[in-house]
Amino acid sequence: MSEFSVRDFYDELAADYHLIFADWDASIAHQAQVLSGLVRLRLGAGPHRILDCSCGIGTQAIGLALGGHEVVASDLSPVAAARAAAEVATRGTQIPIAAADMRRLPFKSSTFDVVLCADNSLPHLLSAQDLRMALINMRRVLRNDGLLMITLRAYDDVRQTKPTATPPQISKTPYGQVITFQLWHWHEDGERYDLEHFQLIPMQNTWNVRVRRTTYWALTRPQLTAFVADAGFTNITWHTPASSGYYQPVLTAQCAPSMR
Ligand SMILES: C[S@@+](CC[C@H](N)C(=O)[O-])C[C@H]1O[C@@H](n2cnc3c(N)ncnc32)[C@H](O)[C@@H]1O
Repeated sequence: MSEFSVRDFYDELAADYHLIFADWDASIAHQAQVLSGLVRLRLGAGPHRILDCSCGIGTQAIGLALGGHEVVASDLSPVAAARAAAEVATRGTQIPIAAADMRRLPFKSSTFDVVLCADNSLPHLLSAQDLRMALINMRRVLRNDGLLMITLRAYDDVRQTKPTATPPQISKTPYGQVITFQLWHWHEDGERYDLEHFQLIPMQNTWNVRVRRTTYWALTRPQLTAFVADAGFTNITWHTPASSGYYQPVLTAQCAPSMR
């Protein structure tokens, strides 16, 4: 459905991925704090066995492991997974990390207390069939009553306004300010868009421009809620940024024992 390879996009972005944050380490700490709070709310104090099935370079997995959880991580991009492993090693914690597609998770059934799929990873799946496959796999590796956590852009608003660009984000680096922004090209279905990801890196008196392309399905809350329920989850709750302190809406849901 998309002419762009998601794996190539993240393989190429892995070395620069931290530059989309103003301060990556601060984001690691803050995101872990908020996500741990949501886990505690549903499953108690823990520590818990958590699978981050779209870990990227480790933004959530590292903070959760540093917070005492037993974390396992995987990602479609082997280059991002390798960088996550290197970042883990420099922070004095331990996380087994694998390159794996969330539609075919290479883990035994009923292994985890929590499966996390954070920061708009799930909307890279562009068909109902792929979404179902991923969610059924997440359910399979969760224990009875285990917790699913998905975070994604607030697409309900986006689908109304169909923006064509994101505001520039600035990251301070030792070699100057790096600017990141995106251009969005909407498909005729009004639900999916091709994204051009621009990074402007200062270089002497000019800029080095890096452009990478991928496609997203702008899933609304009712759409994702229906897919999650179909996959056998119950107790489906949306946590808004205002209520959770997370920068994106967070869906939590629990594995319905009767659906196994
Ligand atoms: C926006 S990044 C977020 C990464 C990480 N959670 C973070 O916040 O830094 C989306 C991630 O989803 C991963 N991804 C996309 N499709 C995937 C799939 N089918 N299976 C596993 N990971 C996938 C990408 O490789 C990428 O690392």
